[in-house]
Amino acid sequence: MGSSRVADTGLAADGQARIEWADAQMPVLRSIRVRFASERPLAGVRVAACLHVTAETANLMRALADGGADVALCAANPLSTRDEVAAALTHHHGIEVHAVRGEDGAAYAANVTALVDGRPQVTLDDGADLLSVLHDSRPSQLSELLGGTEETTTGLLRLRALEAEGRLACPVLAVNEARTERLFNDHYGTGQSTLDGILRATNLLLAGRTFVVLGYGWTGKGVALRARGAGAQVIVCEVDPMRALEARMEGFEVMPAREAASRGDVFVTVTGSRDVLTGVHFERMKDGAVLANAGHFDIEIDLEALRAAATGGVREVLPFVEQYDLGDERRLNLLASGRVVNLAAGEGHPAAVMDMSFANQALAVEHLVRHGAELAAAVHPVPETIDREVARLKLASLGVEIDSLTEAQRDYLRSWS
Ligand code: ADE
Repeated sequence: MGSSRVADTGLAADGQARIEWADAQMPVLRSIRVRFASERPLAGVRVAACLHVTAETANLMRALADGGADVALCAANPLSTRDEVAAALTHHHGIEVHAVRGEDGAAYAANVTALVDGRPQVTLDDGADLLSVLHDSRPSQLSELLGGTEETTTGLLRLRALEAEGRLACPVLAVNEARTERLFNDHYGTGQSTLDGILRATNLLLAGRTFVVLGYGWTGKGVALRARGAGAQVIVCEVDPMRALEARMEGFEVMPAREAASRGDVFVTVTGSRDVLTGVHFERMKDGAVLANAGHFDIEIDLEALRAAATGGVREVLPFVEQYDLGDERRLNLLASGRVVNLAAGEGHPAAVMDMSFANQALAVEHLVRHGAELAAAVHPVPETIDREVARLKLASLGVEIDSLTEAQRDYLRSWS
């Protein structure tokens, strides 16, 4: 194990308390950890993870370490790092961590490099940074990779682009697309935690407000649903006709962003794309409008255009709230500098949500260790057996029993006639 870089090991006791609190909400991952501890399926495998350094991630690291892996962790976003968790992981669990909350881009890059220096055999990414550094600057290490996992839509976009260029050198399991992950993470998790981040930063009353969701993918659907649940009038802006139709049939108003710009009180971008809200939108927005991004990168709100529009200046009015004075009696409030609001201004997904993602992650790592060498260098779905096992374990943890098919039903469903 290499040496760690964390803010303050004196915070370890607080971090341990948080890790244990989260663990109590993560029964699926815990049951996998217990099995891993007895079967040791990852014995001696070097695993590098570039994930948000939270109590939930800490429990995934514990599961991998109990499975026998030699684990190192760095932060996928300096703003989401919990320094006390980083301290506890190194101090109480002997895991190598490179993460300090709020560190700059150079320190962030150095953390990724430190993990790559450990010659990982399996990577876990949240945005594809480990695999992109390995492909860009460590070609000699690529043959050591059994494979990687990816937690985000954005990371999968990058990795599929690499695959399309014929350059992807190892199998990648698309954890982000597992059905159990999608349902809990994107839909329930980001839906709730995005609202939580906005409310923590602003303490707005959402009832009666007009709430604009830009992007109606899995995550956008969750955000729109929760905003409606809080009493807001919800407008959806979407470029895909099927999704736009679905939004309309769900009872949301659907319109182009330009039109929604003059109507909205709160705007949330959640498309995974860039320049979703730009100058043409800012110039139509109402005084006091709140702008937040729930997509992975801070490129969905055009920050350069926003700065250019702020002829009256920019000031921080509350933690995580920057006010852009448009010089004409209108002020726009940008949350968390346009970074992913649920992690920057809130605590990210609740532990019960990450339980599902990280159960998929742990089983995906086990799958790569067992079968990575036989898999093609491509982005693969998480095997259906893993998804079903995660769902089964979750139902068991909830004390829910379900029926199973009878032999006659199975025969009927198998028969062409
Ligand atoms: N992504 C979103 N929420 C998270 C959390 N609580 N921990 C790790 N990654 C996350």
